[in-house]
Amino acid sequence: MEMNRKQPDKNAPIGVFDSGVGGLTVAREIMRQMPNEKIIYFGDTARVPYGSKSQETITRYSEQIVRFLRTFQVKTIVVACNTASAYAMDTLEKHIDIPIIGVIRPGARVAVEVTRNGRIGVIATEATIASQMYTKYIKELNKDVTIYGKACPLFVPLVEEGLLQDPVTDEIARRYLTELIDIDIDTLILGCTHYPLIRSTLGRIVGEKVRLVNPAYETALELKEMLGRLDLLGDEPPGLGSNQYRFYVSDMAEKFVRFANSIIKYGILSAKAVNIEDY
Ligand code: DGL
Repeated sequence: MEMNRKQPDKNAPIGVFDSGVGGLTVAREIMRQMPNEKIIYFGDTARVPYGSKSQETITRYSEQIVRFLRTFQVKTIVVACNTASAYAMDTLEKHIDIPIIGVIRPGARVAVEVTRNGRIGVIATEATIASQMYTKYIKELNKDVTIYGKACPLFVPLVEEGLLQDPVTDEIARRYLTELIDIDIDTLILGCTHYPLIRSTLGRIVGEKVRLVNPAYETALELKEMLGRLDLLGDEPPGLGSNQYRFYVSDMAEKFVRFANSIIKYGILSAKAVNIEDY
C-alpha cells in the first residue's frame, strides 16, 4: 500500500489527532521515543466525546481533521483516538497518499504476542467495543485467542476531572473489571487514549498476573519502525524556539493547555482554536 505513495519530506511534522486531550498520551510517547520529530496535534475539543457517536459522524470528523492536518504538509498521520481508529481508519486509508497509522493494530499485535492463556480483555469506549475492531485485528493474527470487550464510559470523565488516584476511580474500575478478572484474562488492552493515565489503578485492580498493553506506547514504537522503513525519520535536531510541538483544538484552548501541561513535561504554552467545520 505504502509503495505507490509520493515521498514526503522527512523533516516535515507528524500530524496527530484525537477527539480531545486523550491523544496527548500518544503524542507524549512520540516525543519520548522520537525526540527529533516535530508534531502538529489536533484535539477536537468542541466535538468530544467520539466514544458515544456513530461511525458516520466519526468518519466525517476524522476526514475534516485529516484535511486540516494536511495543510501543514505533514509527512504522516497518527490517529491517536481509539474510537476514530476503530471507525474511520478503513476510509481514511483509502483516500490518503501519505502513511497513516492508528492505535488499534499496534495494541492488538502486542496483546497477541504477550498472552499466554489466549484470553485477552479489551477496555475502551462504547463505540470502540461495538466496532469489534480489536477483535477483528486480534483474530487476524491468531484465531484461537478469545477476546472479552468491556466498555468503560466513566473512565474518560474521571480522568478529565483529574481523579487519577482516587477512591471513586478505584470503585468504578473494580466494578468494570471484576467480570474480566473472573474470566481469567491474562492480558488487558487499555483501548482508549485516557486509560494509560490510570494505569497504576487498573494494574492494582487486575493484579500483577495480568499484562497491561498500552496502545499509545506500542503505536509510537510502530510509527518509529514505519518511518525508519520508509526513510522518513527526521534528521534535523529541532533548535530552541523552533515550535517543535504545535497544538490546535476546536474549542477551549486554555483548558486544553492546562490538561496538556499536567501530563506532558515540555511546558506547552499555547494551543490555537480553529473552526474545524471549515475543512
Ligand atoms: N479518544 C477517545 C478514544 O480513545 C476517548 C474519548 C472520546 O470518547 O472521545 O476512544
